Amino acid sequence: MPTSAPVNPSLADAAHYGPQLGDAEFEFIRHVVGENAGIVLGPNKRQLVQGRLARRLRELGLPTYEAYCNYLREAGPEELVGLINAITTNVTSFFRENHHFEALASYMLPEAMKRNIASRRLRIWSAGCSTGEAPHCIGMVAGEALPASPRWDFKILATDIDSDVIAAASSGVYPIDRMSSVSPERLRRFFQKGSGDHEGAAIAKPELRSMITFRTLNLLHQWPMKGPFDVIFCRNVMIYFDQTTREKLVNRFAEMLAPGGYLCIGHSESIHAGSAPFKLVGKTIYRRNGGV
Ligand SMILES: C[S@@+](CC[C@H](N)C(=O)[O-])C[C@H]1O[C@@H](n2cnc3c(N)ncnc32)[C@H](O)[C@@H]1O
Repeated sequence: MPTSAPVNPSLADAAHYGPQLGDAEFEFIRHVVGENAGIVLGPNKRQLVQGRLARRLRELGLPTYEAYCNYLREAGPEELVGLINAITTNVTSFFRENHHFEALASYMLPEAMKRNIASRRLRIWSAGCSTGEAPHCIGMVAGEALPASPRWDFKILATDIDSDVIAAASSGVYPIDRMSSVSPERLRRFFQKGSGDHEGAAIAKPELRSMITFRTLNLLHQWPMKGPFDVIFCRNVMIYFDQTTREKLVNRFAEMLAPGGYLCIGHSESIHAGSAPFKLVGKTIYRRNGGV
């Protein structure tokens, strides 16, 4: 899956041609997406929704958005996946907001190793990982930072609500022209050249792939994992949610983190001081209170 090429169809092909999204249907879709994914679609997002759903209508052979909304009502949860996969914004790239990966190498992993020296267990969660660039970057950094022997029990959980991006991420296949921010040394160590169907692509090597578990997970739902995590990356995801949902989520992340663990959020996101047990310790890096 291309790194920053949208998984969703371009807006251009559907914004002005084909079926038009009417008021009632837009309101219904906004409501369903808000209730089920937490994604707030403002009144100015009509063209975006129309553009992103156009391909879905074509796939289903439905002539109008009215027909699509009726289909959504009848199909229920089954089509909810199709709707949410079409609506999500999945833009990401390798080593996006690189200061988080530098901090991971320079103090997050060393502190976690000190804290967990007895169990030799380290856990990182990449929440809202899209096509998997962030968890692969975390894996590369950890592969360099952790000693080969004695081994650490190191695992990355990578989740997203969108099942299409999780399928793409699990393949570990990336077009090479999207990997300019991965150093030649890292490319050599952690990726192999694709051939045949994967000509022109880089494929994550088993060492890297084995660190990461990809799962579909809606952050608004119950979380099946117990934690604790040493670091949570949830970057450029909460930006789509309303303030109440963000605050609840940040508190749930705190419960999932080990005391002294870190939460990394996106460049335009912030956590209100006093609303959660976190201290800002770096650019969009929060440390969970407690611990050593
Ligand atoms: C813009 S991408 C961010 C990708 C990556 N974290 C980054 O910063 O490069 C936002 C991701 O959040 C996911 N997302 C949106 N709502 C979600 C929800 N309720 N639960 C889990 N993931 C969600 C989307 O599917 C999308 O892949």
